[in-house]
Amino acid sequence: MLYVIKMGWDEGGDTGRVDAVLAGALAGVEYREISDLEAFVRFFPDPAEEKPAERRPVLFVVNLARGGISVGYARFIAYISQHPHCLENCVGSVVVDGAEELFTKKAGREMIFMANRSGCGFPGAPLVEATGSLYNFNLRAKLQGIANLRAYENAVKKLVEALLAFQGAPAPADGRHRIALFHASNRKTSNTLLLWSMVRDAIGDAAILREVSLRNGSVVDCRGCSYEACLHFGEKGECFYGGTLVKEGYPAIRESDTLVFCCPNYNDAVSANIMAFFNRMTALFRSDFREFAKKRVFALVVSGYSGGDIVAEQVIDALNCNKHFILPPHFALMETANDPGSILACEGIEQRAGDMARRIVEIG
Ligand SMILES: Cc1cc2nc3c(=O)[nH]c(=O)nc-3n(C[C@H](O)[C@H](O)[C@H](O)COP(=O)(O)O)c2cc1C
Repeated sequence: MLYVIKMGWDEGGDTGRVDAVLAGALAGVEYREISDLEAFVRFFPDPAEEKPAERRPVLFVVNLARGGISVGYARFIAYISQHPHCLENCVGSVVVDGAEELFTKKAGREMIFMANRSGCGFPGAPLVEATGSLYNFNLRAKLQGIANLRAYENAVKKLVEALLAFQGAPAPADGRHRIALFHASNRKTSNTLLLWSMVRDAIGDAAILREVSLRNGSVVDCRGCSYEACLHFGEKGECFYGGTLVKEGYPAIRESDTLVFCCPNYNDAVSANIMAFFNRMTALFRSDFREFAKKRVFALVVSGYSGGDIVAEQVIDALNCNKHFILPPHFALMETANDPGSILACEGIEQRAGDMARRIVEIG
């Protein structure tokens, strides 16, 4: 049974387009529609003990009125955010239909972030956005030789099919995950690397670990090659620029089923080396995207002051939405610590690092 959560239908805006797209995508699907918060609370209560044993697929649909602010959507988000276990054992996908050209990505990645924080996992590529003009479907429409509206309909239909088919990450053959940890930090001073060492100690030998420093050598951002050139390099396991990202980063992605990223907050974003790696994964993604969709991604985010949520959303956007990695429930551990070493003084940090370690080694 699919749960379809409709948010923002009560704002007086036009819902005709998204209603028609949903009707097409849900034809023949057994589903329960929920459009008021009271019903949502009944089906998705907190605390976690009440969670049903069976994994529940949930399609979150946001109708975003002009201006990008929806009070109806905000009511749902407030409940989800304040009940950090209400979506345990759920897997989700998101549709955002906007009245204008802006705000759909912002709402989509926020929806994923909030639901994930409350226990919902997401398969790769879990977001379909429709901007007011449907301009964002230009390329897909051209490739399929159809109108933009048809491309939108097809995308939502495929999204629902993929959600219903999603079984989670495949179990590792020998019972232990192969984990690659990526960082670009200085071991002597980095709080984020200290946080990783706590998580790593808690993992112990329950997984096979490999650490990759993206600081070695000079890291160059994506050159923006043509699609053909990028695919050509990717098929050879390369990228136009070589270096650490290709020599160490690519094999680590290929040979691991789980990726963990150390993400210190630099100007409310992941640091430049980490971002360059995200961008330059594109060559590998072009040839290996089916493999990417079987791997899980986690993030350790440390901010000196604030903004960890923005950094975590950036990781969701780049790696789950764009690069199709699986987002397991509670994928990010977000902490605040500024002075070198001060993360060790955060209250309850060992418990949270241990919980993160358990989520990372968990199978199924
Ligand atoms: C270039 C730079 C930019 C930073 N920008 C922010 C920021 O925008 N917001 C914030 O909360 N902390 C910011 N910080 C502080 C780091 O997030 C903080 O030092 C934290 O402990 C994580 O970094 P670390 O793993 O290198 O120790 C910045 C630090 C640096 C070096």
